[in-house]
Amino acid sequence: MRGIKILGGKTLHGKVQIPGAKNSVLPIMAAAALCGERVTLERVPHLSDVECSAKILQRLGCRVMAAEHFLVIEPAGELQSEIPEDLMRAMRSSIFFMAPLLVRTGRADITMPGGCKLGARPIDIHLDGLAKMGVMIAQSAQHLHLTAPAGLKGADITLRFPSVGATETLLMAAVSARGQSVLRGCSMEPEVTDLVRFLKACGACIEGEGTRCLTVFGTPNLKGCHYRICPDRITAATVMFAVAGCGGEAVLQGACEEDLQAVFRVLRRGGCDIACKEDEIAIGRYHTLYGAGNLVTDVHPAFPTDAAPLAAAAFLRAQGTTMLTDSIFENRFACAAGFEKMRAACGVQGRTICVQGVPRLAGSSVHAPDLRGGAALVLAAAQAEGESIITGIEHIARGYEDLAGLFVQLGAQAGYIQMQDSSSLLNVAAYA
Ligand code: UD1
Repeated sequence: MRGIKILGGKTLHGKVQIPGAKNSVLPIMAAAALCGERVTLERVPHLSDVECSAKILQRLGCRVMAAEHFLVIEPAGELQSEIPEDLMRAMRSSIFFMAPLLVRTGRADITMPGGCKLGARPIDIHLDGLAKMGVMIAQSAQHLHLTAPAGLKGADITLRFPSVGATETLLMAAVSARGQSVLRGCSMEPEVTDLVRFLKACGACIEGEGTRCLTVFGTPNLKGCHYRICPDRITAATVMFAVAGCGGEAVLQGACEEDLQAVFRVLRRGGCDIACKEDEIAIGRYHTLYGAGNLVTDVHPAFPTDAAPLAAAAFLRAQGTTMLTDSIFENRFACAAGFEKMRAACGVQGRTICVQGVPRLAGSSVHAPDLRGGAALVLAAAQAEGESIITGIEHIARGYEDLAGLFVQLGAQAGYIQMQDSSSLLNVAAYA
């Protein structure tokens, strides 16, 4: 078992390159299974969820080759229609394979997906839309057996909520369905737009890119393409909230300014300086950080739910109060227990975390409850006096290539340690 060890209290300074987006590469890897030709993806982050998606593709019969930040996916002659339970449960994004399986094989035998425990996370919007396209669904508590005996047919579908995952599932189904589909009430998250662009590069015909209504004209055969994944706005937000919390300055290269406007507003409210030029974003926090008042997450273009724990961590030492409510997931702030161990003054009620800034945090041993909550604990530890150890970092590896390394690039003293078991926090290997 590994952990992240970090000696907090340093002001941050540095330049970082923003990698490709986790939430973009995962659905695009699944969508590659729709294609009849080779797909080459560029700017692919090294993440355990990417490895898991590659394993699923291989299991389905595709060839997957990885080198540096490139990934080449060669189509399978005939695709398998079943995904083993362990791979389905390893991550939430395994659900993205459901539509490609239905399109390519006429059926999908899968179990309910795993992923961060942020709340109930049902998949009814995915299934309701697929049913409208002619999919028959047999569902038990944990197992799904879907068939499309007559293939998928285009449909007019209104999503009851602009779910990111459901929009992506229905897009993948619609691009290969017979006839026209109109998807209304779609998610406008930048990663959905990235999937639209990828599918268009493969020959799909989609109108309405970047809006809540997507019109799709089904095409029987998608070709391959070479595609560059969009930058990860949540990694960019992680760096910016780290600077806000610790003080100092950083330059982010390759981030997309347009995708980060809601994050900028919150950081500026706290007193951070942000300047953008070409593909660089510079952030500095040179004076007092002020509490951000009341913040509510919502679907894009509002403040993103994935950045909520990071913002909470950044304001733990701010002057004043920050009240953050997550409107998307019920259990977004499981990291609050770790904040409290570091002697933060915060409390969670329902979907809201209330942070009353304190002058000092104390280093501690804490456990990552989920991906972004784990990153938020590392961010809090970077501000705390003394040493902290964060365990449960397998959650963090799902979404960050090397989070400790990112903090090292910003001048923090951080690294990975090997631990004998969860009760032994003393077997320190080395700082990075
Ligand atoms: C995606 C992101 C995740 C992010 C989230 C919200 C990926 C791989 N993951 O997750 O990092 O936090 O968007 O921006 O892209 N819902 C239903 N029924 C459904 C689908 C969703 O009720 O069929 C609900 C969910 O329980 C949740 C809300 O809708 O409360 C948002 O979920 P959704 O947008 O689908 O998020 P994910 O695609 O799971």
